[in-house]
Amino acid sequence: MALLEIQNLRVYYETRHGTAKAVDDVTFSVTSGGTLGLVGESGCGKTTIAKAIMRLLPGNGKIAGGKMLFKDRDLVSLTMDKVRRYRWEEIAMISQSAMNALNPVARVGHQIIEAMRAHRKVSQAEARVRMAQVFDLVGLNIERARDYPHQFSGGMKQRAVIAMALLLEPDLIIADEPTTALDVLVQDQIILKIKELLSRLNNAMILITHDIAVVAETCERMVIMYAGKIMEYADTDAIFYHPYHPYTLGLQNAFPSVMGARRELISIPGFPPSLIDPPPGCLFAERCPFAEPLCREQTPALEEVEPAHFSACHRASAVEEIRAKSREEGTWYNE
Ligand SMILES: Nc1ncnc2c1ncn2[C@@H]1O[C@H](COP(=O)(O)OP(=O)(O)OP(=O)(O)O)[C@@H](O)[C@H]1O
Ligand SMILES: [Mg+2]
Repeated sequence: MALLEIQNLRVYYETRHGTAKAVDDVTFSVTSGGTLGLVGESGCGKTTIAKAIMRLLPGNGKIAGGKMLFKDRDLVSLTMDKVRRYRWEEIAMISQSAMNALNPVARVGHQIIEAMRAHRKVSQAEARVRMAQVFDLVGLNIERARDYPHQFSGGMKQRAVIAMALLLEPDLIIADEPTTALDVLVQDQIILKIKELLSRLNNAMILITHDIAVVAETCERMVIMYAGKIMEYADTDAIFYHPYHPYTLGLQNAFPSVMGARRELISIPGFPPSLIDPPPGCLFAERCPFAEPLCREQTPALEEVEPAHFSACHRASAVEEIRAKSREEGTWYNE
């Protein structure tokens, strides 16, 4: 059962230079209690999708098309009044700048109590009980509730932000780069904590990250994005063991030991195209060693290449050959 169905979503930003198509015809779904990883290079539209779902786009950003079906509603057309009822209550977001999301001049415990009371008609004492529960859930010592954020370590702040997201028991949590600001050891602890919470509580999660290894450890399904479009969308195992899209292959090449050591997303040579005046055809063609003339002329549709496995590539039928060549030295870096 789909909890959230994103259908042909388009999100555009008006800029001084023109309209940037930050999210262009994106379709995926998250099942109830399911985990989905959203992966791609910087600027490919990951945070924009998260903000669109939360209806928190900045003034120059607008949903230009598509649907976001959540339970029985289309989030795209909800009035702000109704948005306030699902945002945080049913869908919570741990934002990329989460560390700055805490109010520096209020005690952490107090902030959580206030957040509870802003959404629920509960007494101070009841809110305090819930605060203690979420502190416990994320592994924070309740004795630290009286501390100010600056007295917390980076990992503790991140736990506090996760506690805040869990507070109202949302059905879906969107975690946007929840660990990038932390050192590697603390990253691991936070990821372990998130995994443990996911198995204990029954909420669904969209995990946004550059770190493909984190997704491999945490998520059942994966969306690989590039320049506002989905390149590949499949179960995590399929993405790792039977990838179809050259972009996915390129990413994997950048991390030969992805299932083992944790590696940052080192990009494929070259840069993503302009989102304002994109070239015709496949947006990845410019950097793709397997591109053919058709790739520069026609945008490939996201097609089901195997059951529940989607790839947007004109060359899907040559996948065996492409996989083999992708592993050869010189295919990606041929200077
Ligand atoms: N407020 C804005 N106004 C104009 N353009 C924007 C705005 N916010 C984002 N963009 C553009 O939209 C595109 C997608 O941005 P987004 O923040 O969604 O990327 P991202 O995948 O989250 O990247 P990162 O991994 O760096 O966080 C980028 O080209 C970005 O420059
Ligand atoms: Mg982002």
